[in-house]
Amino acid sequence: MKRLRLAILISGRGSNMESLIRASKEGRMAADVALVLSNKEDAEGLAVARSLGVRAVAVPSKGASKEDHEAQLIAHIDAERPDLVLLAGYMRIVSAKFVQHYEGRLLNIHPSLLPAFRGLHAQEQAHAAGVRVAGCTTHFVTEELDGGPIVMQASVDVPPGTSAEELGQLILAKEHVLYPATVDAIARGKVRFDNGRVVWT
Ligand code: GRF
Repeated sequence: MKRLRLAILISGRGSNMESLIRASKEGRMAADVALVLSNKEDAEGLAVARSLGVRAVAVPSKGASKEDHEAQLIAHIDAERPDLVLLAGYMRIVSAKFVQHYEGRLLNIHPSLLPAFRGLHAQEQAHAAGVRVAGCTTHFVTEELDGGPIVMQASVDVPPGTSAEELGQLILAKEHVLYPATVDAIARGKVRFDNGRVVWT
């Protein structure tokens, strides 16, 4: 089994990124984080990555056209030759061109049990709907927002009286386990992207 190389894209605190780096270092995921990129210069996750010994670079999206910004991202990413590119709290919608460039190698984590509650503030959407079971999903990224083929999901029971904030914390704790588990399953050849679908072996 070959350990996979990862590039991770973030925009903020980077707690999923941190869980991936820790899982790699602690032997819970057969993959190594080669590079962290942020579209925001002040993303807290950049310092977290560096403190864990991972190269982290800001590629500011502010003031750049989407095309130019993504071209810069692609140059940074491809120089590292990653096997997978992981969106982890990356708060920009990537273009069709970007998706096509990384087809079958681009993953995202979304804080709901897709296909429920796509888009922003999924945890608040779930809370407002009064769901009794919530969760998170990892999926390959396609041109359809939060609509790509699902790799793994984790669910959490929602006790009566749970606040929106508490629900967000319950889901986040599940995310921190699910994303490394997803990458590990891909690295071990248990699951793969094949012609637009997820295939388990
Ligand atoms: C997570 O809830 C993730 O599912 C969503 O954005 C949030 C990012 O959090 N896409 P963090 O930056 O990983 O802490």
